[in-house]
Amino acid sequence: MSSEKTNARKTVIVTGGSQGIGAGLVRTFLDRGYRVVANSRNISRSNGFTPSGGLALVDGNIAEFATAEKIVEVAKSQFGSIDALVNNAGISSRSVSPNTRLKICGLLFPSTSMAFSSSASLLSSRC
Ligand SMILES: NC(=O)c1ccc[n+]([C@@H]2O[C@H](COP(=O)([O-])OP(=O)(O)OC[C@H]3O[C@@H](n4cnc5c(N)ncnc54)[C@H](OP(=O)(O)O)[C@@H]3O)[C@@H](O)[C@H]2O)c1
Repeated sequence: MSSEKTNARKTVIVTGGSQGIGAGLVRTFLDRGYRVVANSRNISRSNGFTPSGGLALVDGNIAEFATAEKIVEVAKSQFGSIDALVNNAGISSRSVSPNTRLKICGLLFPSTSMAFSSSASLLSSRC
């Protein structure tokens, strides 16, 4: 079975997806048949991506719980599942309260497999 067919129904969230490593990950997952919810503070205005049947864009600071809630809502409503998270956005842990971090972890991670960039970022540092 081709990787496109194997991955056809899987959904991955990529934070920090508007440029750099995150944008490369978004393109790679799309090329391999994943459905992608891509987030950054300005991803819909970045001119890098256009929403499509396999790609949803969510603007927002991932340090804010409401952004994580919106990502989950979009993933479930548009694609029906969350299978993986690549938490790539580089965020200073000093800028977010511990309670917010824990709430975001609980919201995103119960049934989700995770992959992290090499950086210490918001969610990977707390989950
Ligand atoms: N490049 C390297 O050599 C290297 C080495 C080690 C580790 N890393 C880590 O790898 C990750 C990606 O690196 P990169 O070089 O690709 O970074 P980059 O080009 O600066 O891109 C960062 C991405 O994160 C988004 N972002 C920043 N703050 C955010 C926030 N609060 N909420 C949501 N999105 C946010 C940015 O978009 P918006 O501005 O639209 O929010 C952008 O899409 C970072 O965590 C970085 O620390 C990179």
